[in-house]
Amino acid sequence: MMENTILVTGGAGFIGSHTCIALHEAGFRPVVLDNFSNASVRVLDQLERITGQRFPLVRGDIRDADLLRDTFQRYRIDAVFHFAALKAVGESVRQPLAYYENNVSGSLALLQVMQQCGVRRMVFSSSATVYGEPQYVPIDEAHPIGSTNPYGWSKVMVEQLLRDVASADSDFLALALRYFNPVGAHESGLLGEDPLGTPNNLVPFIAQTAIGRREHVQVFGSDYQTTDGTGVRDYIHVMDLAEGHVAAFRTHCGDFGFKPYNLGTGRGSSVLEVITAFEKSCGAHIPWEAAPRRPGDVAVNWADPALAVKRLNWRARRDLQTMTDDVWRWQSAYPNGLQEHTS
Ligand code: NAD
Ligand code: UFG
Repeated sequence: MMENTILVTGGAGFIGSHTCIALHEAGFRPVVLDNFSNASVRVLDQLERITGQRFPLVRGDIRDADLLRDTFQRYRIDAVFHFAALKAVGESVRQPLAYYENNVSGSLALLQVMQQCGVRRMVFSSSATVYGEPQYVPIDEAHPIGSTNPYGWSKVMVEQLLRDVASADSDFLALALRYFNPVGAHESGLLGEDPLGTPNNLVPFIAQTAIGRREHVQVFGSDYQTTDGTGVRDYIHVMDLAEGHVAAFRTHCGDFGFKPYNLGTGRGSSVLEVITAFEKSCGAHIPWEAAPRRPGDVAVNWADPALAVKRLNWRARRDLQTMTDDVWRWQSAYPNGLQEHTS
């Protein structure tokens, strides 16, 4: 088990790249497959600086069945950690077909080649978005499934594909890891979230404001029924998330079936609490202004991670201050991310 070779689709992206580090540290061999639609090839250099290992890279698309077949055979892949997807909720509303094509057809193509090549273990990047509008918090895995946008539906659909494949093939293992709000960066400051264009998510937006690339943060909604009126989310450090993948795979690699797990901390933080933590990290005031609620947002959303804690022998260890400290170390070392950094 310790020498397993893992194909990491989307392995140059934010969560995939950090998971490659956790896999390496746990004794696995990651092989990165990425089409670089939302990542820099320089991520591989940073991974080498952190781990001392040059991970094999397959440049290409999960929808390219010939490339996948060749990759499975060449590297003798034992399991797939499947991160590759488009992930912008708003964009998915405007371009639903692009999301279904990339996320659903892409996963289908990958599963077909896995079946042809006899690879029967997948760890899938799912999301708390599969719970749709929260009907209660904290959200456990028994919460009803649904969605409010094409991105979310693409995750629901891939989960359904995995359920069906696992019920048709009694040797197939599908772990659907439902992430809450992944943030943070590697503690070295060498790797972190590197969004192209204007960030959609809170923490990258705050980080770019702190470094001077944005004028101020807009706080979407200050009249929610929460302690300070701003939205509350379950922010989880990307390295805790990465280690959660390894824990899930180690626990279940000899099992079969479809197994969903929430990966979150079980604690909620408000937008203003995140801004305050970031101010402490960077030692400066972060300008912000109250703005109307963002359409589609809910007041509160956080995980009940009890199932993962109980079964996977894992829990999120890093607190909000560590998350913002690590983001600031990364953002201040690479103000423009990896794409434009020249030293
Ligand atoms: P990311 O965009 O940084 O990483 C995704 C990677 O996949 C990118 O490197 C991109 O170039 C690559 N990719 C996309 N389509 C591809 C394709 N067809 N073939 C090959 N490579 C392709 O995103 P992330 O934040 O690291 O997210 C990873 C996964 O986690 C995604 O499936 C996402 O939906 C899921 N997720 C993310 C969050 C979040 O807030 N970041 C929350 C819940 C779930
Ligand atoms: N927010 C701001 N200003 C910003 C950006 C966000 O105030 O510039 C607020 C939002 O209103 C929300 C909180 O910060 O209250 C977090 O927003 P994010 O956009 O960072 O994260 P979301 O909870 O909206 O989205 C996350 C994932 C999605 C996933 C969704 C539902 O990023 O992929 O959870 O699970 F679909």
